[in-house]
This record gives sequence, structure tokens and C-alpha cells, in this order.
Amino acid sequence: MAPVRPMVEDSSDIESVEIAPLALGHIESFHHALDVVSRERKYLSFLEAPPLDQARRFVMDRIARGDPGYVAAVRGEVVGWCDITRHDRPIHAHRGTLGMGIVPHYRGHGLGRKLINATVAQARKDGFVRIELFVHSDNARAIALYDKVGFVREGVQRDAIYIDGEYRDAIVMAIVERENAAG
Ligand SMILES: CC(C)(COP(=O)(O)OP(=O)(O)OC[C@H]1O[C@@H](n2cnc3c(N)ncnc32)[C@H](O)[C@@H]1OP(=O)(O)O)[C@@H](O)C(=O)NCCC(=O)NCCS
Repeated sequence: MAPVRPMVEDSSDIESVEIAPLALGHIESFHHALDVVSRERKYLSFLEAPPLDQARRFVMDRIARGDPGYVAAVRGEVVGWCDITRHDRPIHAHRGTLGMGIVPHYRGHGLGRKLINATVAQARKDGFVRIELFVHSDNARAIALYDKVGFVREGVQRDAIYIDGEYRDAIVMAIVERENAAG
């Protein structure tokens, strides 16, 4: 899939990155950022972004449902995202799955921590009891971030991932806070 628009890449922009709720105006640059990170073939469940229409529906649906989602944006262009998707079935509706990514140039400057803090704070307000995620076992930076913000390791899914001829384990992590349901 061809990139939908050029990526903003100027290191002076790191200070001007804004953390903002995911909005309809972010759809195209969110789709591009998702495509860039997917194509690294290391971190996400996608190997390329789904078609733009599908990404548009995903963003519109989650905004309509009120699911927590924040982006890191430079002049309105998404360079990173974090979202928590509520599970559908009534017996799982207290749970949400977290996903996130930042395009390479903007990593290692604290944006991941800002994005996850904003998104998890919103999820707490929204009454999520269990916020869970799935991370490749060789993704040390992501695991370090999740540890630091309070996710607890629940288990290992052996050989859960197969990319480019190699199997990798996945680690399941979660924050569980029944007190969030009281609010
Ligand atoms: C994982 C990711 C979201 C983290 O965001 P980031 O902005 O790069 O990370 P931060 O700069 O906020 O750093 C997070 C913490 O991890 C630490 N850290 C960074 N790299 C590390 C490493 N290799 N080992 C251990 N700790 C590391 C940082 O020091 C920082 O801790 P601090 O806040 O106490 O200083 C980002 O790197 C990314 O998008 N990676 C590719 C996509 C991906 O992995 N998505 C998650 C899929 S589950």
C-alpha cells in the first residue's frame, strides 16, 4: 500500500508534538502512521495497514462508542497513537484491549509514556476494570513502558507470532482495577 501522505520528520518538531484525543480529522495521517509501523514487520499484528476505508470505519466507530484513544500529532499530522477497544460481549464489556505505536523518528522521547498515560487515565474514568494487551516478547522497549505504567505480566503465549519464517512468543499483560467500576 502506498503511503497516503508524507510524514512530518523534523527533530525540532518533537517539542511541538501535541497529545490529543483521536478525532475524525486524524483519519488519513493515523492510517499512514499505522502503515509505517506495520511495515516494519516487528511490532504489530498488521504487516501493512488495512485499506483506508476500513481504518476510517475503525476510527468513526470507536469515536461513536466513546472508546479511549489519543494521538501524538505534529501540526495535526498523527505520528503516534494509543487506543483501548472495549470488548463487545456483555460478560467482557468491562475489558478493553490496548494498542499503540509511534513512527520511528519520534520514538524514545517520552511520547509513548504520555500517550499511554492519557489513554489509560481516560479508560479509568470510563469504568474499564481490565485493560489488557499482547506484546511480542522481543519488544523490550514496549514491555519496559508497560511495566512502568503498571501493567502486570499474566503469561506467555508460546509461538504466538510467525513473521518472516520465525516464531516468537507473546506476553499478555493487564491492569486490573475493580475500583474503576464504582465511578
Ligand atoms: C513502544 C513505544 C510505543 C514506546 O514509546 P516511546 O515514546 O518510544 O517510549 P518512551 O520514550 O516513552 O519510553 C518509555 C520508557 O521505556 C524505557 N525504554 C526505552 N527503551 C528501552 C529498552 N530498550 N529497554 C528498557 N527500557 C527502555 C524508556 O527509558 C522510558 O522509560 P522512562 O519514561 O522511565 O524514561 C514505541 O517505541 C513504538 O511505537 N515502538 C514500535 C511499535 C510498538 O512496539 N508498539 C507496541 C506494540 S505492543
